[in-house]
Amino acid sequence: MSGVTLTIDGKSVAAEKGQTLLKAAEGAGIYIPRLCAYKDLLPHGSCRVCSVRVNGRIQAACVQTVTDGAIVENETAELQEYRRNIIDLLFVEGNHFCMYCEKSGHCELQALAYRFGITAPRYQLLYPKRDIDMSHPDVYLDHNRCILCGRCVRASQDLDHKNVFQFIERGCRKRLQVNGEALAATDLQVTDEAVASCPVGALMRKRVGYSVPVGERPYDNIPIGRDIETAGEE
Ligand code: SF4
Ligand code: FES
Repeated sequence: MSGVTLTIDGKSVAAEKGQTLLKAAEGAGIYIPRLCAYKDLLPHGSCRVCSVRVNGRIQAACVQTVTDGAIVENETAELQEYRRNIIDLLFVEGNHFCMYCEKSGHCELQALAYRFGITAPRYQLLYPKRDIDMSHPDVYLDHNRCILCGRCVRASQDLDHKNVFQFIERGCRKRLQVNGEALAATDLQVTDEAVASCPVGALMRKRVGYSVPVGERPYDNIPIGRDIETAGEE
């Protein structure tokens, strides 16, 4: 298998041809923040949290493949500010009240906010009026917290081989819709990867709330991405 060598923040990184920048960085113990990328799902390139500069141009690291000799910037003040702004906007665009959310401490949006030092909204909160679908016996969908990352859409399609979720409308009217009158009318099961894939408290399992106490949850103590960074230190 032919390899390529590139530089990320001054560190020489060996990668496989065809690999995405996100995966190549991960292999070298470099964390590039992300939200819409999930496991081995085909990348979507929609959230832009993974933006890096490649030879001076901004690219989404989850979709951009490696090229030999590329100079990649990741942890610069400019890119951190760019990503921080995206996270800031996601917070004000929905209704994210972390202190009342069962996903707190497991939530990737909240964890990224911690990582970027966000403590209060920078923009005006929009307080949109959105529905909660409680119809399913084991899962609920809270549109207030949906960040439209599309992970559930792709996981349902590509991993669960169902088509429970889809997006409708565009721009600020874009929203998630289920393939039926409500969640209960779909073939969604609590064990579906689509449910596990949600990075925030939008798609949640019922009856397991607070089984892990606040303070003992993954991101309560360890910053998001630290697992990748420490793997690279070994
Ligand atoms: Fe993403 Fe969750 Fe919304 Fe699905 S429900 S689009 S996984 S935030
Ligand atoms: Fe790359 Fe969302 S993780 S665009």
